[in-house]
Amino acid sequence: MNVVSNTLDTQAREIMRGNDRGTYTVPTDGLYPYQWNWDSAFAALGFATFDLDRAWVELETLFTGQWSNGMVPHIIFHEASDGYFPGPDVWGTTHTPPTSGISQPPVAASFTRAVFEKNPESGRAHLAALFPKLLASHRWFFEHRNEDGMIVVNHPWESGRDNAPEWDEAMENIDISRVGDYKRNDLGHVDPHMRPQKTDYDRFMAIVYAGRDCEWDEAEMTANGPFRVADPGMTFILLRANRDLLALADVLGEDGGEIRGWITAIEAGVEKLWNPAIGAYDALNVRTGEFAGSVSSASFLCWYAGIDDHRMLTAFDRVIKATTFSMPSHDPESARFEPFRYWRGPVWGIINTLLAMGLKDMGHAAQAEKLREDTAALISKSGFAEYFNPQDGSPAGGMDFTWTAAIWLAWASPTIKTEGS
Ligand code: DGY
Repeated sequence: MNVVSNTLDTQAREIMRGNDRGTYTVPTDGLYPYQWNWDSAFAALGFATFDLDRAWVELETLFTGQWSNGMVPHIIFHEASDGYFPGPDVWGTTHTPPTSGISQPPVAASFTRAVFEKNPESGRAHLAALFPKLLASHRWFFEHRNEDGMIVVNHPWESGRDNAPEWDEAMENIDISRVGDYKRNDLGHVDPHMRPQKTDYDRFMAIVYAGRDCEWDEAEMTANGPFRVADPGMTFILLRANRDLLALADVLGEDGGEIRGWITAIEAGVEKLWNPAIGAYDALNVRTGEFAGSVSSASFLCWYAGIDDHRMLTAFDRVIKATTFSMPSHDPESARFEPFRYWRGPVWGIINTLLAMGLKDMGHAAQAEKLREDTAALISKSGFAEYFNPQDGSPAGGMDFTWTAAIWLAWASPTIKTEGS
């Protein structure tokens, strides 16, 4: 096993080096040719296992995309590439470097803390420079994505879980009459049955055009944007991120009062995402007040947020028994489960990492270890794929993927010390 693991460790580092564009890392060559927000935060976690300076550079480059209102966009278009749709001209934002107009799950503060704790002495100056930017990004979430302590997304892409079934109902009503023709590039890289469908993309584009039309005005999108859904994933991830940011504030001797207020507010918001009808945390369409009725891998991020909810252990036990490899991104017993299609069923190593971090923190070591073993088995069997079929473990999406290599190095590999995982 060790020989195999060592070989995979070497491969993982090679993948990260291969996707390294100097100051930022692309998720994978071809399919995603720019810097993506949470992909980069995961890359920093991976780099921190073998090149701590490079880990800081990754985070610092991410924040060169930050807007003056505090938002860290989900894509930063550092260099021109015609290989991706929708590119910078479609988003029509005015930032330099060009960016998209929405954000992505804010794992940056949590992973900044992890990178910092690798070597607090050498990391202190980096941390001091990043802290106000992280704080501004969390303030942006609280000002523009907060509905009563629940964190909402204005676009499924913002959740990072693009075509998850929890968006289906809210997406159905989006007007696509003005979308017109466009050419997707993703289908030239990945088998269409592993990607979102055209019906999804039409709606993804309708929301992008609505944002562009109002010049990405947050107040306008909050009031009238086509999509506004409270997401357990975002809510739990931001709650954890605030706890980690507070720990960093303490290290720097900064006042943590504002952050404490956010923590209290989101803890109250979490309660509103509990859907008794499915016995799980669920997405909630704030325009209609309707739950999505969807048990997803994001429902289980409660532990990552520091909430030890034993009701979710019951759901966890049921879901992990339903597929060979865990954690499927959508409930395998649901009619909407599709084992190969992106966020409608496949296992994602990055989500397993977050789930296991939370489970371990909350004293559920056996469940955390099950996820680590499954992730290691999937990567050993199928390589560093973007995601995996939970039934037979086959690879899906892009290959040689940065974040899969990163979480192998930081958490899944049997050769590493796992005290931080
Ligand atoms: C894509 O293009 O598939 C991305 O997930 C959007 O960020």
